[in-house]
Amino acid sequence: VRLVVLVSGSGSNLQALLDASDDPAYGATVVAVGADRPDVEGLARAAKHDVPTFVARVRDYPDRDAWDAALTEACAGYEPDLIVSAGFLKLVGPRFLAAFEGRYINTHNALLPAFPGMHGPRDALAYGVKLAGATVHFVDSGVDTGAIIAQVAVPVLDDDTEDTLLERIKVAERRQLVDTVGRMAREGWTVNERKVRLGRG
Ligand code: GRF
Repeated sequence: VRLVVLVSGSGSNLQALLDASDDPAYGATVVAVGADRPDVEGLARAAKHDVPTFVARVRDYPDRDAWDAALTEACAGYEPDLIVSAGFLKLVGPRFLAAFEGRYINTHNALLPAFPGMHGPRDALAYGVKLAGATVHFVDSGVDTGAIIAQVAVPVLDDDTEDTLLERIKVAERRQLVDTVGRMAREGWTVNERKVRLGRG
């Protein structure tokens, strides 16, 4: 299975996928990494792994629609079976979704539907929840609203700061993303009214 991974930052989730895909038994290979900005660590990680990269910067296009078209075309050129948003901070547009909805997944650092958006761990800590975690979900036109594929919980400890909680979440998040993408690649999936099942069925 051919994966394109989209990043905007450090790319530790990307790194976990790159490492996993070194094993042919994993079932998925990262064929390209895209970003919405240059000079991010995620692109360097890809280059180090000899994976091609591309950058689609919103401000290099006349409007959001043109950016959406360029991102869609760049991804489509790599003929992906699955596209993974791993810390990609842009909402894709209607063209992208028309091309890839149902094959575009995101990892979010909270237990959705609680705490969507940019600051999941901070919001969870401020709310006072005792369990936090991460969610892999399909992307639809909303913010972190698509059908849920997998979730993992971690405890919130009394003396947690945003950083300590985020680190605990990210350890579980990376493992979950690698497991989930591998299972999707090897076993396929079905979606029936938001109910996602991995495996042939
Ligand atoms: C992840 O925690 C993801 O949930 C959030 O951004 C983080 C990306 O981390 N949207 P990294 O760039 O993969 O290290």
